[in-house]
Amino acid sequence: MTTYLVTGGAGFIGSNHIRYLLNKYKDVKVINLDKLTYAGNPENLSDFADDSRYRFVKGDICDEPLVNQLMEEADVVVNFAAESHVDRSIGSPDDFIKTDIFGAFVLLEAARRTHIDRFIQISTDEVYGSIDKGSFVETDTLMPSSPYSASKTGADRIAFSYFVTYGVPVQITRCSNNFGPFHYPEKLIPLFVTNAIEDKPLPIYGDGLNVRDWIYVEDHCDGIDFVHRHGELGEVYNLGGDNEKTNMEITDYILKKLEKPETLKQYVKDRPGHDRRYSLNCERMHALGWKPKHDFEQAMDKTIQWYLENPEWWQKIKSGEYLEYYKEQYEKR
Ligand code: NAD
Ligand code: TYD
Repeated sequence: MTTYLVTGGAGFIGSNHIRYLLNKYKDVKVINLDKLTYAGNPENLSDFADDSRYRFVKGDICDEPLVNQLMEEADVVVNFAAESHVDRSIGSPDDFIKTDIFGAFVLLEAARRTHIDRFIQISTDEVYGSIDKGSFVETDTLMPSSPYSASKTGADRIAFSYFVTYGVPVQITRCSNNFGPFHYPEKLIPLFVTNAIEDKPLPIYGDGLNVRDWIYVEDHCDGIDFVHRHGELGEVYNLGGDNEKTNMEITDYILKKLEKPETLKQYVKDRPGHDRRYSLNCERMHALGWKPKHDFEQAMDKTIQWYLENPEWWQKIKSGEYLEYYKEQYEKR
């Protein structure tokens, strides 16, 4: 029996990862430690509420006593907990520094003392910064340019230092932009899909020609599990989808699929310090035998369909009722 401590498991990728683990492995326990910030929603895992293998703990990864206590039970840590939205990091970087850097440090310190089997730090392709031509390999210099990506870089390198200095069995994954169900509708794809459904404008930053590499969230989860099973300790692994698209291509795809007019496109002021292009070279993972399994268009269609079928999930968030609801729920406990 392996016990996972998944942090940030009430968010987009964390909840998909817990679902992936519980569906794939019978003999696992999962503890989900999540602070329930605006981005966390325990309902993302309501299908496992009665599963004895799953336990939700509301708490902060910066809370040392709580983290120490949970770490005693854990064999494997997967650290997803983070402030994750670049635009918010521009407005108020404080929580990014606290959670993404200091929180990772608290987890690593606890892991060092309890001798766990594995610590997987979920990093991001954004740590490399922008690249006009070619693709980044794992050994390239890190040149993050937003408070978000700089905070993630701090955690990425602190995790590495705990491997080198203390022998904590760390692995680091750097994934490209995810999409799929339960994606918070402040990010490009879920925002544009839900706005288009509601006939609201789609705010395109700058010229719309910035490029991101897109990966279906289930492929990311599969890649993390693959790194755990087959990767080396102390290594970094790029996880890309091999689907580089301009934001305009994504916008056009969504409008066409939902049969909505071009007039919904709204050009707005660019994001300060907006990275032009992210691109990963994933040869290291390919050489180990891993590749993403989902076709981009099929996965996009599935994702759009999920938002069409689950309006109550995103309408609650977009109306703001969600936050009030959960504040009340947890103040009662
Ligand atoms: P998200 O914002 O949807 O979820 C983050 C979760 O972390 C939320 O449930 C939130 O409540 C929780 N959290 C925040 N602060 C916390 C704290 N102090 N203690 C405990 N829990 C806390 O983010 P996401 O898109 O699911 O991203 C998850 C991770 O994957 C992040 O580390 C992010 O940097 C990384 N990542 C994301 C992408 C992407 O495209 N979304 C790509 C590569 C890497
Ligand atoms: P985002 O989903 O915020 O991810 P990241 O910035 O971490 O890659 O944004 C993806 C791209 O879409 C990015 O180039 C910024 C752009 N974008 C818009 O044009 N309009 C929007 O409203 C948002 C949220 C993003």
